[in-house]
Amino acid sequence: QMRPFPLRRLVLTGFMGAGKSTVGRLLASHLGWQFLDLDSHLENRTGATIAELFSLHGEAHFRRLESTALASALGRSHVVLALGGGTPEDLTNRLLIEQTPSTFTIFLDAPFSTLFDRCMLQEISRPVLADPETAALRFERRRPLYARLSRLVVETTGLSPEETAKAILDEL
Ligand code: S3P
Repeated sequence: QMRPFPLRRLVLTGFMGAGKSTVGRLLASHLGWQFLDLDSHLENRTGATIAELFSLHGEAHFRRLESTALASALGRSHVVLALGGGTPEDLTNRLLIEQTPSTFTIFLDAPFSTLFDRCMLQEISRPVLADPETAALRFERRRPLYARLSRLVVETTGLSPEETAKAILDEL
């Protein structure tokens, strides 16, 4: 099997609540790499929260900022990057990720109800979850995109973040 050696970036994709940030942090510490969360990166760059960016300027504006932040994040090496749940909906974003060399993308999957419940237990404000029915539609639309973008799919139901990270490290 072809491997993108030397591996320089791991990208974690999947819906909100999939564990991208938690698992990403664990992977980075195992590898001795930097962890980068695209949402946090964006919040640091703009000085506004994701919820503020949505409510002040709308989702389209947020998506433009997200694409810029993605390009800058993919320029780094020895990094584990947690995408936002919506990042792969944009074709340019997908192409950028696919065409960045030495990059291994992982899809953290779980059923919508599991993801939704996990998000409800968190204190992060996520504008996209405000309407659960629309969120479910987004989930359906995105799943094939997450899958096609990724070299590895991990079904995370019943796995702790540590177990998920281990499953990934075993595949690298
Ligand atoms: C979004 C997911 C969020 C964040 C924003 C929009 C989405 O990221 O980028 O609220 O459209 O699914 P997480 O998946 O890290 O929560």
